[in-house]
Amino acid sequence: MAIKAFRSSILHFTQDAQAEYFEDGILLVDAETGLIKTVGKAEDLMGQLGDVDITQYENKLIMPGFIDTHIHYPQVDVIASYGEQLLDWLNNYTFPTELQFKDPEFARETASFFLDELLKNGTTSALVFGAVFKESVDAFFEESSKRNTRMICGKVMMDRNAPDGLCDDVQSSFDDSQTLIDQWHGNGRQLYAVTPRFAITSTGEQLEKAGELLKNNPTVYMQTHLSENKAEIAFVKELFPERDSYLDVYDYYGLLGERSVFAHGVHLDEVDYKRLSETNSSISFCPTSNLFLGSGLFDLQASKDFNVTVSVATDVGGGTSFSMLQTLNEAYKICQLKDYKLDALQAFYMMTLGNAKSLKLDDKIGNFEHQKEADFVVVDLACTALMKRKQSKCKSLDEVLFSLMILGDDRAISETYVAGKLAYKK
Ligand code: GUN
Ligand code: ZN
Repeated sequence: MAIKAFRSSILHFTQDAQAEYFEDGILLVDAETGLIKTVGKAEDLMGQLGDVDITQYENKLIMPGFIDTHIHYPQVDVIASYGEQLLDWLNNYTFPTELQFKDPEFARETASFFLDELLKNGTTSALVFGAVFKESVDAFFEESSKRNTRMICGKVMMDRNAPDGLCDDVQSSFDDSQTLIDQWHGNGRQLYAVTPRFAITSTGEQLEKAGELLKNNPTVYMQTHLSENKAEIAFVKELFPERDSYLDVYDYYGLLGERSVFAHGVHLDEVDYKRLSETNSSISFCPTSNLFLGSGLFDLQASKDFNVTVSVATDVGGGTSFSMLQTLNEAYKICQLKDYKLDALQAFYMMTLGNAKSLKLDDKIGNFEHQKEADFVVVDLACTALMKRKQSKCKSLDEVLFSLMILGDDRAISETYVAGKLAYKK
């Protein structure tokens, strides 16, 4: 039987960002097409199931697969590197590590580990930086295709201020990116993002080519870094004295737009927020990274005030955890320091449908509407003694979710399904 029913507590968010919670619900999936049939109360759906195979869970919560809008697959081994802020961290740890991705076999093994680690943490889709080497991105997409995960990835474009072996040039970065777009964008569930690393490692000529790629391929994404660290911002000013701001560098080369995702945006002013808002560009908030690298405290309230779309992300290996639950935990604490209350419903909305919307993928993933792709997680609300005890005291859905995002991590992920098929079991 291709149709499968999963009976459990179920939570997802509807298009208007409202939580829909079924204490005893059924998620009906077509395992052949990998799409959702429907979701609803068990008492309403049980009568119509016939001899459909039912998997029943106790003390679990089914929700849409988590979405991570900024992460670097070549930085698996950079995670937990001591003592530096952004620029020295890049030079001392990250660039030497990324040089290893010249070896396609090393790239493949790391991509495989990385994707399995995402699934173990309940993350079923991500916007991912590759390395500068074209083959590193082929390896990533091949491994993602094997798992049938919906992933967006791109070859890093960088032609200065990095070791020789890690730099491409204007023409090769343009040609390699276009070749990857032709091969992978829309190939199964794979999608492409034009990926200039950041303004420091690209010449104006290379950023211009990035803009040209976006113009020539209007459905691809753009990902880069923006205003993460004070020394970084000062260096950008030196490199592009003729531009009004860091964001203006990207704007000048045509890199803003509704498929453009700017990681960090910790140090922005009103002009920046307004420009991000009017171009429908989004910011990816990376709390564990911003704390670990001492970058600063992201201002979620300001982004909201200016109507800028914000998603939430791990930024491994600047970030310290693959877990989106741990990422929400740290997001909550940053917001506390900025006098903003990040409530659990908003946080869970962000890492599912909200992040899908920020990636213009909410017609495919992010909730359990009919015909959406059936990526979902089965969360164990009794995964540790402490979690079990705390959950037993919770009196509302808000409390259940808040405890989960503060105490939860990969131990809370019992199973992960990708397009209707079991992809990870604890
Ligand atoms: N800015 C440019 N490259 C990087 C990177 O790899 N990680 C982070 N956090 N910021 C960057
Ligand atoms: Zn990053």
